[in-house]
Amino acid sequence: MNSPIVEIGLTDWSQAHPEPEWTRAVEAGKVLYFPKLGFQLQPQEQALLREELLKAGTRNVSLGADGLLKGAAGNEQEQQALAEMVGRFRQQALQLVDDLLPEYKGLLRLAPTSFRPKQVENRAQSVRADDRRMHVDAFPSRPNYGERILRVFTNLNPQGAPRVWRLGDDFEAVARQFMPRAKPYRLWQAKVLKALHVTKSLRSEYDHLMLQMHDLMKFDETYQKSGTQTTMPFPPGSVWVCFSDQATHAVMSGQYMMEQTLYLPPGHEVDPASSPLAILTRLAGRPLVGVGAGKAL
Ligand SMILES: [Fe+2]
Repeated sequence: MNSPIVEIGLTDWSQAHPEPEWTRAVEAGKVLYFPKLGFQLQPQEQALLREELLKAGTRNVSLGADGLLKGAAGNEQEQQALAEMVGRFRQQALQLVDDLLPEYKGLLRLAPTSFRPKQVENRAQSVRADDRRMHVDAFPSRPNYGERILRVFTNLNPQGAPRVWRLGDDFEAVARQFMPRAKPYRLWQAKVLKALHVTKSLRSEYDHLMLQMHDLMKFDETYQKSGTQTTMPFPPGSVWVCFSDQATHAVMSGQYMMEQTLYLPPGHEVDPASSPLAILTRLAGRPLVGVGAGKAL
């Protein structure tokens, strides 16, 4: 297995000079890793690194594109400080991506920015929801028809704890392994899910296959234990960027990080043939979204 990491020695969020090989690498499913690019906390922001600032029953604090903060506990002043901190990270993440991957400029759609104060190793959850198992990101309720999920992460841990990921084989190798086991897509089932509001729009065959891969990977104990993988500890004061719908990953441990998601419309990659949509379409031998998809199913 080639290294799933491409290390970049950038030290300033606004000083990235793009190199075409970085876009190629991230589109090949690699993680761009910036070991010297930390998010600088203001002195008073150290006090925000507390799990109690997460509202009971929520996974993350998130700052919407509209500037509204959700999922936060704490008093008004603390919530305002959280919104400021997360908002500053958003600005820096957007600047980084614009400079680093200029081919996507003007095309990316902003998703909420999250602050995740929970300790990963203590989260009790179902196999399907357990992100400590290798997976690719796929949304059960929000079909995306091949829209790409680009994510920027930074580790804020004040005690020096790394955020430990496992990174797996490239997307095509994993797709070749799991696609033959996927349940067939049924258009009528997708229609029922939509009618019941389980999904916000009609689940395409692409979305179905991505969810199948997500689930089949997580439930396969042999793959989880002995599939091709590399352990990668991201230390505090580092940043990493990847297409999380393509880079096979598991989040093993860590606490306190921020994350910015950006959506890239399908087909706007520099090399669209390297995308999960193109790879799955090629392996399936038929269109998985749009005109011609779902025929004879
Ligand atoms: Fe994930």
